[in-house]
Amino acid sequence: MKQFISVNDVRKIDTLILSALAYKANPFSDRSLGANKRIGCLFLNPSMRTRLSTQIAAQNLGMECIVFNVGQEGWALEFEDEAIMSGNTVEHVRDAAPILGNYFDILAIRTFPSLKNREDDYSELYIKQFIKYAGIPVVSLESATLHPLQSLTDIITITEEIQNSNPDRYRDKNQRPKIVLTWAPHVKPLPQCVANSFAQWVNAWGRCDFVITHPEDYELSDEFTNGATILHNQEEALKDADFVYVKNWSTYNDYGKIYTNDPKWQLKKKRWAVTNNAKVMHCLPVRRNVELSDEILDGEMSIVTQQASNRVWAAQAVLAEILRRNA
Ligand code: CP
Repeated sequence: MKQFISVNDVRKIDTLILSALAYKANPFSDRSLGANKRIGCLFLNPSMRTRLSTQIAAQNLGMECIVFNVGQEGWALEFEDEAIMSGNTVEHVRDAAPILGNYFDILAIRTFPSLKNREDDYSELYIKQFIKYAGIPVVSLESATLHPLQSLTDIITITEEIQNSNPDRYRDKNQRPKIVLTWAPHVKPLPQCVANSFAQWVNAWGRCDFVITHPEDYELSDEFTNGATILHNQEEALKDADFVYVKNWSTYNDYGKIYTNDPKWQLKKKRWAVTNNAKVMHCLPVRRNVELSDEILDGEMSIVTQQASNRVWAAQAVLAEILRRNA
């Protein structure tokens, strides 16, 4: 693996899952793999889970990890090639990235979309410019359109749940679960990254029946959703679900808008009751009683803490794979 930007950088998802679960069982088994190696984690936007789990994962592998909140503490970066930098940007990524490439062995970056211009956001200019100019492996800590470390974690968590469940829990003997990604209301327009990425990974993984449900006009890009069944009736979608992934996203077609905040889309126990005693997932942070009700988040069906805790093992599996192949 030369970089980790999307599922397309992964040769075998199942191998990565096995590696992550092995690290969960034995966190320090590869303590020497990252000895004398350094990862730089650049945050242009806020984070709790991604930042801390990546740091812990690097340290478990014996790496040094330096975190730089470039969005708050660094020079304002310019990303457009041939820009005339007479505005607010101070340093071009073309100048900054090669220096970072000399300081670090792996560079990890979080950049959110502007949600103003779809073409710009979906071009993934920021992360692509770092890849182009840093000259070292780049890991996405969430980019304008995707959140691959989150999605790998999500599939690890689903796998773990299936492995630990009662053998007759699933509807067929191949233990092929029904996974539902459901839109939820939110007070602010949010990126499509988590939903795009989850759809992309689940489709690539292919070991489930996959349904996406959202209000009309909240379609995601079919580049990521192709292969999933799309339903606008949440109750119908949730029927017999084994896993329900709750997430808000803003509109994709009329880009970055909120069309509805209909509280009927908030997952409550009454609606959850049509599922196959489904486990409920969310990437966090979550707006309680807007996106998800207290009764779900605090109930036995919620696996959000387990899911967020698994972020460490996903990051560790990815960093280890990059170290083995490149460092
Ligand atoms: N899920 C997730 O990426 O959380 P943070 O924004 O806190 O990193």
